[in-house]
Order: sequence, then C-alpha cells, then structure tokens
Amino acid sequence: MTVAPMLGWPEVDESKRMLLEQLKSFAAGEIAPKAKELDETGRFPTEIVRQLSEMGLMGMMVPEQWGGAGMDAVSYAMAMEEVSAACASTGVIMSVNNSLVCAPIEKFGNDAQKRTFLEPLATGRKLGCFALSEPGHGSDPAGLKLAAKRVEGGWRLSGTKNWITNGREADLAIVFANADREKGHKGICAFIVDTKSEGFQVSKLEDKLGITASSTAQLFFDDVFVPEANLLGKEGEGLKVALWTLDGGRIGIASQALGIARCALDASKKFASEREQFGAPIAKLQAIQFHIADMATRLQGARLLTWHAARAKDLGQKYTKEAAMAKLAASEAAMWIATKAIQVHGGYGFTKEYVVERNFRDAKITEIYEGTSEIQRLVVAAQELAEIRGA
Ligand code: CAA
Repeated sequence: MTVAPMLGWPEVDESKRMLLEQLKSFAAGEIAPKAKELDETGRFPTEIVRQLSEMGLMGMMVPEQWGGAGMDAVSYAMAMEEVSAACASTGVIMSVNNSLVCAPIEKFGNDAQKRTFLEPLATGRKLGCFALSEPGHGSDPAGLKLAAKRVEGGWRLSGTKNWITNGREADLAIVFANADREKGHKGICAFIVDTKSEGFQVSKLEDKLGITASSTAQLFFDDVFVPEANLLGKEGEGLKVALWTLDGGRIGIASQALGIARCALDASKKFASEREQFGAPIAKLQAIQFHIADMATRLQGARLLTWHAARAKDLGQKYTKEAAMAKLAASEAAMWIATKAIQVHGGYGFTKEYVVERNFRDAKITEIYEGTSEIQRLVVAAQELAEIRGA
C-alpha cells in the first residue's frame, strides 16, 4: 500500500507516516506470522490487541483528551487495511472497538461517560462490543425486541442479541433496546452496559467459516440492571445512534476487505512469479497477467472509494452514501479477488498451505456484517433517489 501523497489527496503528515510505517513493520513481523495459528485455533489474539493499544490503534480517532490517538478517518482506513492484510480477525476486533464502540460514545456521550467509559476503551484497557442485531432482526434493526424497562435508578434489559463481534471478551457493550414498542423505532434507546452486570450471559459462540480468531457471540440479558447514567444519547434516539455508528463502521469494514484483498493479490503475484508451468513462471502467461491486472484494478478502485468516504467524514460532510458505496465495492472486490487468487494458485490455492484459502473464507463476512451488500445497495439507492427529489 502506498502512503505517499496522491494527487488531490491530503498529505499524510510526518506523525501519521511514522505510525503507518511502524504499523507496517509490526503487521509483517508480529501479526502475519501468527495469523495461520490464530485461524486454526480460534485463539483471541490478546497479545496483539495489547500491542495495538500501545500504538494507539484501539481508539485511533478518539481525541487525545479522552485517551485516543486523535487521528483522522483516512489514517484509520489505512491502518485497518494494514492490520487486516496480516490478519482479518485482528482487523475486525480493532474495527469494532474503534468504529462501533468508541465512536458513538465520543459522538453521543456526555463528559462523565467519556471519562468513565471512553478513556479505558480508547487506551485499550477495556474492549467493547456493539449489540444491535437479534435472532429475528439483522438487516432490520428498527424492529428489535430486546426490552428496556424503566425502574428506580435506571433500566432493566431483557432479551437476546446475536452475531456480536468481541461478545466473549468485551468489558463493555453498547446495547440497543426498545423501551416503548408502541413507538416503533422511536422507542429504541442505546445503553452502555458493563458485561460483568448480573444477568449478562454469553449464551452461545458461533463456529464460523472465517475470521475465526474473533469471537461472534449470542448474548442473553436476564433482567440486567443498567444505571440511568449509562443511557447513551437521548431516550428514543437509539436507532439514530446505531445507524450513525454503522456509517463509520462501514468504512472500517471496507478497509478490512481491502486488507484481505491485498493479501490475496500479493500472494498471487508471488506465487505466479515462482510457479513454473510450460517451462516458465506462470506470470509470463497472459491469462495470469489478466487476472493480476483485474485484481489490482478492482482493489485500487475500492481503495479510492474507501478513502473518499473517509475523507468526506474527516471534512465533516455527510458520508452515509459514500460509506455504503465503499463497503459494497470493497467487500465484493475482496470476495472476487480472493476467488481469483485461488484460481491463480490452482490446486495449491485450495489447500490450507496457502494464505489465499484463508483470504477466501475471511472475505465472505465482509459482504454480510455491518449491513449486507443488499443493504448497502438500498442505502446508496435511497440517497441517489433523494438527490433527484432534491431532498
Ligand atoms: N444516520 C443517522 N440516522 C439515520 C441514518 C443514518 N445513517 N439513517 C437513517 N437514520 C434515521 C432516520 O432519519 C430515521 O429517523 P426519523 O424517523 O426520526 O426521521 C430513522 O433513522 C429510520 O430511518 P429509515 O426509516 O430510513 O430506516 P429503516 O428502518 O428503513 O432502515 C436500513 C434503513 C438502511 C435498512 C437500516 O436499517 C440498515 O442499515 N440496516 C442494516 C443494519 C446493519 O448494518 N446491521 C449490522 C449490525 S452490526 C454487526 O454487523 C455486528 C458486528 O458485531 C460487526
């Protein structure tokens, strides 16, 4: 990946360049060599997350005042790509903490919440998860059923959440619950929940196709008490908190997809240069060159869309559509590039000996979580059509 200034793009200043260079060598030297073992065992990469925290990467966009690195979204996208190119499981652990947990507390939280919750999350002393989806509500969170009942001093939460990344390890969860079903989505509230609360249970862990070193948990809330002080944002504005948060999250997942795709492309170039057939490296064959050219072109196109969305965020512009386009393009590019990478590797690519097999399995989830490709198309179409109507 280039970190050099590009035409029309902001300079990557010296401190960011240094961090990205440091991260590049850390990812190559410390993360990538462990990725196969992490994938095979499903072990949570505690030591890597600790080192990422020390580098300021678990709260990258959080202001320094609250323990973060105070960096911009373009740098975050570049860092996410770098980490995910080495290990996509580590990438999503980092992405959830940054985009889905730190970001909404920074945006919607009050000073007391930032002091109590954001600072430990941004410094990496604590890990967060984002509990929106439910067994019956994935793409349609407006209808979520987890109930919030007002009681003296706070709330009691009851119900189930599904597909929660970091759910097994998280110290804190942002939980979305409905306090008034009659009000539809305007009854939804967001809460910051301590996972050590009585009644909070990790009820199931998913056995997955890819990103196996990150946990995907079902969470059960058995009348969990949440103090009033932990209501995040205004009562009834929980869906807005969730959808605002997912706009940023989609830049993170787009960047994760770029990392997976880049790893698959790099492996394919190396393999094609070394593997000989018909008396010469297969990289000499035009058929293989066309695959490499198409892979590189799709990767760079998706990268520019992702950086464009991140840049719009940094400039304070609306970026809902840009983030959806980025995630749609990058996740589909990752799946396509990983498929081509296996083709370039032939039979070897179908074995666990080569990284492209893992890339293929890891890429698939990027088309699903934080909004499926179909949802991204709905978001893009809604925004495009609103522009025609002048909305
Ligand atoms: N930012 C802030 N508010 C927004 C918003 C945004 N981007 N988009 C919509 N809203 C607001 C609207 O203004 C509206 O509020 P009002 O009624 O007050 O005006 C409200 O939210 C509802 O808007 P819509 O009617 O447009 O919403 P909808 O119910 O039709 O849903 C959707 C639209 C695009 C389908 C949306 O539900 C969506 O993105 N679904 C996918 C959910 C998703 O990504 N889930 C993944 C969960 S996280 C995960 O993957 C787990 C993990 O651990 C990684």
